[in-house]
Amino acid sequence: MKHKKIIERMSLEEKIALCSGKSFWETQEFSQYGIKSLFLSDGPHGLRKQVGESDHLGLNASIATTCFPTASAAAATWDVDLIREMGDAIGKEAVKEDINIVLGPGVNMKRNPLCGRNFEYFSEDPFLSGKIGAAWIQGVQSNGVGTSLKHFALNNQELKRMSTNVLVDERALREYYLPAFETAVKEAKPTTVMCAYNKVEGTYCSDNKRLLSDILREEWGFDGAVITDWGAMNNRIDGFKAGLDLEMPGSKGRFDKEVKKAVEDGLLDERYIDQAVDRLLTLIERTTKGNKESVTKELHDKNHKLARRIAAAGGILLKNDDKLLPLKDDSEVTIIGELAKIPRYQGNGSSLVTPTKLSSLLDGIREYAGKNRFFSGYSLKDVEDDALLKEAVEAARTSNTVVLCIGLTDIYESEGFDREHMRIPANQIKLIEAVAEVNENIIVIIVGGSAIEMPWAAKVQAILHMQLSGQAGGLAAADIVFGKVNPSGKLTETYPFIYEDVVSSTYFNKNPKQGAYFESMYCGYRYFETAKVPVRYPFGFGLSYTEFKYSNLQVKKLGLYDVEVTANVENVGEFDGAEVVQLYVAASTGGVYRPSKELKGFAKVQLEKGESKQVRFNLDKRSFAVYDQDKKDWIIEEGIYALQIGASIKDIRLEKHIELEGEKPVRKNCSTWYYSLSGIPSRKDFVTIYHNYEDYVPQIKGTYDMTSSIKEMKETSLICKIMYKDMEKIIAKNNGGKVDYTNPGFRMLMDSASDNPMKSMPLFSPDSMPLNVAEFFVEAANGHMIKGFRKIIKSNKNK
Ligand code: BGC
Repeated sequence: MKHKKIIERMSLEEKIALCSGKSFWETQEFSQYGIKSLFLSDGPHGLRKQVGESDHLGLNASIATTCFPTASAAAATWDVDLIREMGDAIGKEAVKEDINIVLGPGVNMKRNPLCGRNFEYFSEDPFLSGKIGAAWIQGVQSNGVGTSLKHFALNNQELKRMSTNVLVDERALREYYLPAFETAVKEAKPTTVMCAYNKVEGTYCSDNKRLLSDILREEWGFDGAVITDWGAMNNRIDGFKAGLDLEMPGSKGRFDKEVKKAVEDGLLDERYIDQAVDRLLTLIERTTKGNKESVTKELHDKNHKLARRIAAAGGILLKNDDKLLPLKDDSEVTIIGELAKIPRYQGNGSSLVTPTKLSSLLDGIREYAGKNRFFSGYSLKDVEDDALLKEAVEAARTSNTVVLCIGLTDIYESEGFDREHMRIPANQIKLIEAVAEVNENIIVIIVGGSAIEMPWAAKVQAILHMQLSGQAGGLAAADIVFGKVNPSGKLTETYPFIYEDVVSSTYFNKNPKQGAYFESMYCGYRYFETAKVPVRYPFGFGLSYTEFKYSNLQVKKLGLYDVEVTANVENVGEFDGAEVVQLYVAASTGGVYRPSKELKGFAKVQLEKGESKQVRFNLDKRSFAVYDQDKKDWIIEEGIYALQIGASIKDIRLEKHIELEGEKPVRKNCSTWYYSLSGIPSRKDFVTIYHNYEDYVPQIKGTYDMTSSIKEMKETSLICKIMYKDMEKIIAKNNGGKVDYTNPGFRMLMDSASDNPMKSMPLFSPDSMPLNVAEFFVEAANGHMIKGFRKIIKSNKNK
């Protein structure tokens, strides 16, 4: 142990106390041992430092810091150097604000497009997410502050995120859900990893030894500290045994007593606590090195410019008929869409940043276009407004060019709840269709952090997708529209034609307390490509104002599985620009089922007009391997592998094959869905790859426990129904005054609070429900009122 000397001097109580937060954002300090308190803050696309009241959903105020594009927009740059720069900028702001640990990045996979928090995640592909996440961590940590890689693991939905039990087969876990974490851990050494709220295979992530110790520490060599997501601690004693070091926020000493007793009764070896303390002391050393002198006065101005650059580099041009874009500076433009004036540039929830400045698309366009007019066209409330629509259509009728800004509003995507469908608001669809009837030069600018259906795409001439592009996103969009920046962003997730094309759409969130991942690793392009389901816009797609020519693919074997791949890319068009060159590996070994191709390399190359550069990729064993569940290891199947270089997964320009030695390919359970991908995977298919599968038995009266929520119990319990109504009133009081599920703040808070497992009720605010009251509700819902009252009386006596 590195800090043996200090640990030996500390009492058991002090050691236990150090392993649980002092306040919502701070860790304990012990000046007698020189142990400093750390300040942790959200992330990840800026800082959410709260100085007044604290909360984990971005409800109370936070100081102004630069709001960069959210994860999905930042990842669309496919530019690891730029993301490192973004991390560095955030790290410098953290040093300025005395923050020791920035809570990010989130590298969960976008399993299904309806996850409410997809805007906070990078991609549907683990290779890309891992590389982008690693670059962000390196950037932040280069300033002597720490990061927290989250949410480990399998937090892929918001509904019942605090209690859902994820069942996933070993190959999907290893090949799809874990690699982004693995890459970030191995390449960037985050100072902490944050465990997720949910259960994995029946065990909460906070207590999950397999995840936190066996895989994270032993297999991947993680030597940092593991912290909980806010309120994710399930059982502190199991947590210590699993390798969970820091509980955040503290549970007001509630678990400390239990832990001390467990040590005294011989149920928990003190060594586990010493180990956690040792890691936390190392964490303090690693995250208190920020040097304020490195922070210049101009930091915010500089970062605003950087935010603009990143947003522009992540803008994805999806359509550009007849080269409508870029517009000339002196063009006359009619701007339509309330979102052009009231920007939506980030998502609600714990990542909500108070920006230092804020520019709208309107501001951006006005920097360029001399003559412009603006019309709202629709209301941000989900209601039809014929007057607004009519006025916009009339303006469009007499305009040469229309810039039409549409997208998801706050109620359509948020932390705390999932989306109900993949459409944009109906009032906006109506507007697009009406404007398209009267104008043939329509440039649609999309805002929104997750995939949407675009049945109207054929009716407009150009589409630029900006996602949630941060405080300078409006300026960045205008930079692209007027050609100051040549678009080079590419999709990091597939855009299907309709939600029903997504394989998990029939069962995602249908049984939210048990998320059985029937589709295994077939998410995003892994499904669409392999099953040959046509999509609207494929993974990796994005247009440029220039053209790139690919040539001279060379493949050199450097070792058994070490392969060097090079190719030339030339800018043969009329503009300087940047291309994202993608390398896919497609195995044709005839062995075990696997996606038809997978991303294994990418590079963003800047090329002036006429310039040509060579790109180089280095592949290794993992680029070709599948996980063998029986051997508990990665294996290579012998056979032929195609190396494909392209501008998107569907636009492969060069291809060569190599032959690899390895294990004899084996096919097992060939009649299952995983080989044919025809139709939808069934329970019967899943049990062939997940042997311990059991159907979830819904909880009913008599079986509720501390993992049940008021929302669930209210279905059968009058007292919980009354409590639910009370919660609505209390939450409404601070959120617009009335019970209104179309108010995003109200909805987020109500869904989170009413669906909290009862065990977590006491954790979130000073006036939240005490544990004994939570226990009372569970007993009452089970029909044991008297037992419930006894809990209250007993616990009051013990106070
Ligand atoms: C979120 C985390 C966040 C934490 C602290 C949780 O609800 O899941 O991502 O870092 O709150 O705000």
